[in-house]
Amino acid sequence: MTKKSKTILITGAGGYVGSALVPALIAQGHQVRAYDLFLYGEDVFDAHPKLQKIKADLRDRSTLIQAASGCDAVIHLACISNDPSFELNPSLGKSINLDAFDHVLEAVRQAKAERFIYASSSSIYGVKSEPNVVEDTLPEPLTDYSKFKLECEHRLAKANLPAETCWTIIRPATVCGYARRLRLDLVVNILTINALINGVIRVFGGPQLRPNLEIGDMVRAYQALLEAPRDKIHGEAFNAGYHNFSLDEIAALVKKTIGDKKMEIRHEPTNDPRSYQVNSDKIDRVIGFKAMNGLDVAIRSLVEAYRAGKIKDGLKNPLYHNIKRMQELNLS
Ligand SMILES: NC(=O)c1ccc[n+]([C@@H]2O[C@H](COP(=O)([O-])OP(=O)(O)OC[C@H]3O[C@@H](n4cnc5c(N)ncnc54)[C@H](O)[C@@H]3O)[C@@H](O)[C@H]2O)c1
Repeated sequence: MTKKSKTILITGAGGYVGSALVPALIAQGHQVRAYDLFLYGEDVFDAHPKLQKIKADLRDRSTLIQAASGCDAVIHLACISNDPSFELNPSLGKSINLDAFDHVLEAVRQAKAERFIYASSSSIYGVKSEPNVVEDTLPEPLTDYSKFKLECEHRLAKANLPAETCWTIIRPATVCGYARRLRLDLVVNILTINALINGVIRVFGGPQLRPNLEIGDMVRAYQALLEAPRDKIHGEAFNAGYHNFSLDEIAALVKKTIGDKKMEIRHEPTNDPRSYQVNSDKIDRVIGFKAMNGLDVAIRSLVEAYRAGKIKDGLKNPLYHNIKRMQELNLS
C-alpha cells in the first residue's frame, strides 16, 4: 500500500488474534479501528491515541459501513470461531459468519479500501490423507463453520470490489501461544494449560497430525499481507500452517518445555481421529513469508503468563473458552 501510516479497520479485533495484532499494528504507526462486540471482555488492549474502539455488531450494516469509511485497509476476523460455538446456535452462526459477510464486502466497497484481508481457515480442506494440502487442493469442508468460511471465499471472489481494492484470503492453521485475549480451546494451548494446572498432559488419541501457527507468526503474516506488492497477492489465497506435528509430538514438546521430567502423558480415547497437514510454501514463494517461531515459543509464552498470574482459572474461566462463553451469553 502507498501510505506508510494507514488507517486499518479490524473486525473481531477484540478476539485472540486481534488482541495481538492490534498493538503490533499500532506499534508500526498505523491507526486502528477495533470493531467488535467484545464478547470475551473489553480489557484486551491498552488505550492509545491511535486506537479507536468501536463496540458494535457486524450485523449492524450501517455502523459497519461508517466504521470502514476513510480506511485504507480492512482485516476481517470477526466470527463465531469454532465448530462447537457455531453448532450451539447455527442460525446465529450463519447470520454472523455468512450473512454479515455481505455487509463487510459492502463496507470495503464503499470505503474503496486499498486492501482487504479475509481470515478464512485451513479447516476448509476437510481431512486429507495427502501430505501436500496446497491452496488449490479440493476443499471439502466438514462442518458448517468451515463450509461458510469457504462460501465467504466464493462470495469475495465474485464480489466485484472496486478496481483499487487488492483482496487476499489467508487460511491459517490452529493458532497457539499467549495473547491478552487468550483462547484455551485450541490444541497446543489446551495441552499446556492442563499440564500447568493438573500436572498431567491429556492426549485424546495421539498419532493425529495437526498443523499449528504461533500467534506472533500469525500477526507477522497479516503484517506481511498488508505490505506485500499488490500484483503478488491480489485475488490469491494463502495457507499459513506450520509444524505439522502429531498430538503425541506436541505433548512431548509441552513436557520438555515445562521441564518436568516426571509429568505424566495420559492417553485417552477420542472420537475425533482427524489427522491432516497443510503446506505453506506458497506464501514463502510469493512474498517471502516464513514462520519464525516453533511451538516451543508458544508453549513458553503460556508457561510464563501462567506463572506470572496472568491466566486466571484457566480450565473453567469462560473468557478463555469460546463455547462456555457463548453458552453464558446466549447471544441472539
Ligand atoms: N485462532 C485460530 O486458531 C484460527 C485458525 C484459523 C482461522 N481463524 C480465524 O481467524 C479469525 C480470528 O480468530 P480468533 O481465534 O481471534 O477468534 P476469537 O473467537 O477469539 O475472536 C472473534 C472475535 O469476533 C467477535 N465477534 C463475534 N461475533 C461478532 C459480531 N456479530 N459482531 C462483532 N464482533 C463479533 C468476538 O467478540 C471476538 O472478539 C476468525 O475468523 C477465525 O475463524 C482462527
